[in-house]
Amino acid sequence: MQSGGEVPMEWRYTVSEVLIGSNNIAKRISELSAQLYLHYSTLNPLLIVVLKGSFMFAADLSRSLTFPHQLEFITAKSYSGTESTGTVQIQGLENAQLSDRHVIIVEDIVDTGLTLSRLYDTFAGAGAASIKCCSFLEKVTVRRKDSVPIIDYIAFRIPDKFVVGYGLDCDQKLRHLPFVGVFKK
Ligand code: IMP
Repeated sequence: MQSGGEVPMEWRYTVSEVLIGSNNIAKRISELSAQLYLHYSTLNPLLIVVLKGSFMFAADLSRSLTFPHQLEFITAKSYSGTESTGTVQIQGLENAQLSDRHVIIVEDIVDTGLTLSRLYDTFAGAGAASIKCCSFLEKVTVRRKDSVPIIDYIAFRIPDKFVVGYGLDCDQKLRHLPFVGVFKK
């Protein structure tokens, strides 16, 4: 992957490296949008946005889509600080009508894949017509479980480092950065 440029001065103490800069993000999202069009242009898919991490990606992706779609928002929490807790808490599905809908899970990052597996199981149980995942990042890691569903659409693959920015946090901080950077522990 190309480097995203210099770490801006104000983030030098928290970010060691810019992995993906904002120009690259915008370019890749328009490519993903074109890819999604090929499959979903007539299906009125339901984008299920997994908060909080994917809020920025979902906003940019949705604005770039040139076909009808709807949005639903849920929260899924599996991390505390920079460590996975091994359990996933999902909230916000009470009012979602998933029966016969073509669901696109909009994720910020797939790491071990535990969250994604839980979401697939939940949506399949709710009668979705199809389920695919569109993830902003995929972490290349040996910690990935074998049983994790395929990620159909991925903006960027990144090395096994803890990253922040463009929606991703460390203890609720640094989500607002317009780039993806490696967190300085
Ligand atoms: P998984 O269940 O292990 O795939 O982890 C998925 C969730 O963990 C993501 O949706 C993020 O909220 C969080 N996460 C995993 N890796 C990172 C990271 O590098 N930075 C910030 N959050 C992360």
